[in-house]
Order: sequence, then C-alpha cells, then structure tokens
Amino acid sequence: MNFHTRKWVKPEDLNPNGTLFGGSLLRWIDEEAAIYAICQLDNQRVVTKFISEINFVSSARQGDIIELGITATDFGRTSVTLRAEVRNKITRKSILTIEKMVFVNLDADGVPVPHGRERIRYADEAYERYRQTVQTTADATALAAANEARRQAESEDASVH
Ligand SMILES: CC(C)(COP(=O)(O)OP(=O)(O)OC[C@H]1O[C@@H](n2cnc3c(N)ncnc32)[C@H](O)[C@@H]1OP(=O)(O)O)[C@@H](O)C(=O)NCCC(=O)NCCS
Repeated sequence: MNFHTRKWVKPEDLNPNGTLFGGSLLRWIDEEAAIYAICQLDNQRVVTKFISEINFVSSARQGDIIELGITATDFGRTSVTLRAEVRNKITRKSILTIEKMVFVNLDADGVPVPHGRERIRYADEAYERYRQTVQTTADATALAAANEARRQAESEDASVH
C-alpha cells in the first residue's frame, strides 16, 4: 500500500477534545479513495457505495502529520473495493483501517456500468497512458494547425490569380 497523501492537522480539524475530528478524517479518506477509484477506473463518475466499520484506534493532535494509504483489493463488474489505512507520522501509530470501501462506476445517466478492469494499474502505466493521450492531442493539434495553414495558403494563392 502506498501512502501518497499527507495532511497536517490544523486547528480547524480538531474536536472539542483537542484531537483530530473524525468527520474531517473521513472526508479526507473518502476524497482520497474516490481519486484512487477514478484513476484506476479511468472514469470521473464514480461514487461511494459502501464503507465498512471504522475503528479509531489512536488519534492525532494539532501539528501532527498523518498519512493516508489506499489500495484496491477487488475489482468487480461495476465496482472496485478498496482498503484504507491512516497512520500518524509523528507518533508512528496506526489511526484507523477501513477494510472495505466500495466505489461504483457510473455512466452519464448515473447507472452502474462495467469498468472492464481486473487489476491495479500503477503510476507508470497511468503516466504512459497520460503521455500517449497528450501526444495524440498534440499530434491532432499540430495536424489541425497544418491543415489551417494550408487552407489559408491556398485561399491566398487563389486570391492572387
Ligand atoms: C451507486 C448506485 C448507483 C448503485 O445502485 P445499485 O442499484 O446498488 O446498483 P447495483 O445493484 O447494480 O450494484 C452496483 C455495484 O455495487 C455493488 N454493491 C451494491 N450494494 C453493495 C453493498 N451494500 N456493499 C457492497 N457492494 C455493493 C454491487 O455488488 C455492484 O458491484 P459489481 O457490479 O462489481 O458486482 C446507487 O446505490 C446510488 O446512487 N447510491 C448513492 C451513491 C452516493 O450518492 N454516494 C455518496 C456520494 S459519492
């Protein structure tokens, strides 16, 4: 599991006990997990369907840095199941784990649709896909510019005669 995201616990993230407010933490986890699912499924229309029980085993105080880790544990037909872990970088203790977070892949009408994925794709694959997309877009832009230049040249040519 990679711990890609770190958060700095600030005054606005605290509960009246002076420790990290669970609601803030859950918002960060849900967002991190949604981004993970979006990247894995290559679709921005992904929603949280199910979150299993959460056991807060330790906490964090103002100024602590926490790390969020997500990994996919199962790819269904329209869903992906993730596991989340949060740990305190300062105390080196685990804060919580969530064994099961299910995200569903939707179409433009909000209906579950098969995602066709079977395994985790890692950053280098995602980067390669992104690079190819950028290259294709750049090629298309260059081709469009060349066509436009040729069209202008032809029309100027035509107006001379
Ligand atoms: C997501 C939603 C469209 C799914 O609708 P649905 O009628 O349950 O759809 P399906 O029965 O086809 O199930 C879709 C997938 O979710 C899974 N699923 C459904 N209920 C589940 C549950 N309780 N626990 C785990 N997985 C579940 C199904 O197994 C299926 O996965 P699969 O295709 O990989 O097997 C609908 O429940 C919804 O809109 N929920 C609200 C989502 C939301 O607003 N989330 C919070 C904000 S992001």
